[in-house]
Amino acid sequence: MADARPFHWEYQPPAVPRERYLVTGGQPLEGTIKVSGAKNAALKMLAAATLTGERCRITNVPEIEDVRAMTETLRDLGVVVDHPEPNCYEVSAGDVDWLFVPLEAAAKMRASFMLLGPLLARFGEVVISNPGGDRIGRRPVDLHVDAMRALGAQIDYRYGYYYAKAPGRLRGTEVRFPFVSVMGTENALLAAPLAEGHTVIRPAAQEPEVDDLISFLQKMGAAVERTYPDTIEVDGKRRLRGAEHKVMPDRIEAGTFAIAAGVTGGRVVLEDAACDTMAALVEVLGRAGLAVSCQKDRMEVDARAVGPRNLTPVDVETAAYPGLATDIQPPTTVLLTQARGVSRVHETIFEDRLEWTAELAKMGARIELKGPQRAVIHGPAELQAAELDISDLRAGASLILAALAADGTSSILGAHHVRRGYENIERKFLDLGARIERVQEGELVSPA
Ligand code: UD1
Repeated sequence: MADARPFHWEYQPPAVPRERYLVTGGQPLEGTIKVSGAKNAALKMLAAATLTGERCRITNVPEIEDVRAMTETLRDLGVVVDHPEPNCYEVSAGDVDWLFVPLEAAAKMRASFMLLGPLLARFGEVVISNPGGDRIGRRPVDLHVDAMRALGAQIDYRYGYYYAKAPGRLRGTEVRFPFVSVMGTENALLAAPLAEGHTVIRPAAQEPEVDDLISFLQKMGAAVERTYPDTIEVDGKRRLRGAEHKVMPDRIEAGTFAIAAGVTGGRVVLEDAACDTMAALVEVLGRAGLAVSCQKDRMEVDARAVGPRNLTPVDVETAAYPGLATDIQPPTTVLLTQARGVSRVHETIFEDRLEWTAELAKMGARIELKGPQRAVIHGPAELQAAELDISDLRAGASLILAALAADGTSSILGAHHVRRGYENIERKFLDLGARIERVQEGELVSPA
């Protein structure tokens, strides 16, 4: 692989379709929908499947663009990826042709960097591009690289690529992070099962998707365990086996639809909601005055008794799990525009994750930014339809929520951002009685 040369100067950014959502608001959403599998668990499991030459079968995988990008990246490496039925992927990484993850893959999706740990651990080398993903902050990968170095890898950075090698096997060690990183934890977690000896990862992210990944690894025969809430320990093995796993439900998708009930004054029932992972959001929704019940895998949010623009203001702060997820902050911000009084949002994880609120302001929301990570929301706002631009996945879903609460028809450009992470979002909104369609150059794309 020494001659794998990244011709990054030939790189052309992919042409993205100029798709937009047309959303007509003012209708309370009512009905029942089923939550899809978690994007942030499924992508890591597809990467984890390269730790063995045997076939892995992963079910409840959401049919989203990021999954398509990850499976395409795997196929480009020579991994066999079958898709026998919707939401089911079978991965056989018997051998690979390439140990090279190009900028083309990385530019589409930050999670492509999840291939660093498993490819390095199993094949002893990989050349991998610095990743892209959402534009919500600097989002470096230094912690991932430091973790691999701690495990004995030699890594050089040239021309935007990491050249990683593990002479012999990786060696188990204590991987100490300066602060919690979800994918940093997961990259270490995907390298350590084939390393020689014992690895301790600390502080390890406590997100439920990490635990779902641990249970998949255990089924593959890995000796991995969360021994304390912030500690994961791994005993390295020579090889892992194929396994089957059902991806946990997506708590961010569930939260997005729960908030849809809140902003439109409707009632939404979610099936397959992972209630035991949603305590922080359920608390915020309750404090805002919504009737919420979440038990086992059924969540119900009823806003009908509250009345329009009559929620209670709430101050929220994002945090690593079990705190309020940063990914649910943008939808929560939309919800709080409908509260009677002043709410404050403190985004502690990413430094640019409030910039998109400029679009929300175009709709009549009164949002005062106090520096890049704090917003003061003066509610309630009578939102008006507008021409809007999506900058990232969660901001996109949040603008749809705002448009559903607004008077008139909004046009929201940049549907491809939303399609990265939400399975058939317009179908689900239509099932709740929303008026939404996806169009490209004036032609209807969905519903077909
Ligand atoms: C994951 C999720 C993302 C979620 C985030 C936080 C996936 C595919 N993405 O992203 O949806 O919003 O967790 O819950 O699972 N950082 C560094 N150096 C690093 C890595 C991270 O400085 O090497 C910083 C980041 O810039 C950020 C903080 O650490 O400020 C936390 O980020 P991290 O937990 O790593 O987020 P991701 O794993 O990238």
